[in-house]
Amino acid sequence: MQNNFPIVVLLSGRGSNFQALTQRLSDAHICAVISDKPEAPGLEFARDHGIKTFAFDRQDFPTKIAQKEAIYSAVDSFKSKLIVLAGFMQIIEAPFVERNLGRILNIHPSLLPRHPGLHTHERALEAKDEEHGCTVHFVDAGVDTGPVVAQAATKIAPGESAEALAGRVLALEHDIYPWAVSNIARGEISILGREVSYSVRCRAEADGHGFRIGREACPQAAETNGA
Ligand code: GRF
Repeated sequence: MQNNFPIVVLLSGRGSNFQALTQRLSDAHICAVISDKPEAPGLEFARDHGIKTFAFDRQDFPTKIAQKEAIYSAVDSFKSKLIVLAGFMQIIEAPFVERNLGRILNIHPSLLPRHPGLHTHERALEAKDEEHGCTVHFVDAGVDTGPVVAQAATKIAPGESAEALAGRVLALEHDIYPWAVSNIARGEISILGREVSYSVRCRAEADGHGFRIGREACPQAAETNGA
């Protein structure tokens, strides 16, 4: 359904978070899916569901930065309210981040600031963490360092494999990402500078879902009540 909150999704691979967004978003709609990988299965799902897709293959550009600039121009052309990274396996250049501060969202498969970067499930097991999970955060110029929106956590079971843990965390991702994007679309979650604010209703919802927000998710976060 069309509404006032168009979002663009960027992905590089299977697109299960994108699929969850198509099924569970409210008060936002996906106006385009953009990829650096023409063969990404997520693009096929988008096409099958009548969502516009754009792929920018590295081999069609003289340099990687030229490819990225084409992706950024395509994203800009939609004038979306939010740019949602859903397994987009590229570093985003600082000038693009800076001109879109507070408008780029990512989901990361760990409880940040633990385990930024890759292979998070293996690293959580190696570190003998008691719990693991995922984090929705706004994107800044660093790698997985932007302001945290919400986290979903799970206890690591004794002897659990990285594959099993990854599957359980992915299911949490599919719950929390559409929830976070929908709440941003409704203005129940907002950001000013690096400070993320939540409405009373959103706080109650997060509690109901068992999601961590604000200081509970990120002890350094400032605590304010949004609208
Ligand atoms: C997810 O684990 C997400 O946390 C990370 O990339 C992966 C994407 O998976 N950013 P999918 O393509 O959404 O299935």
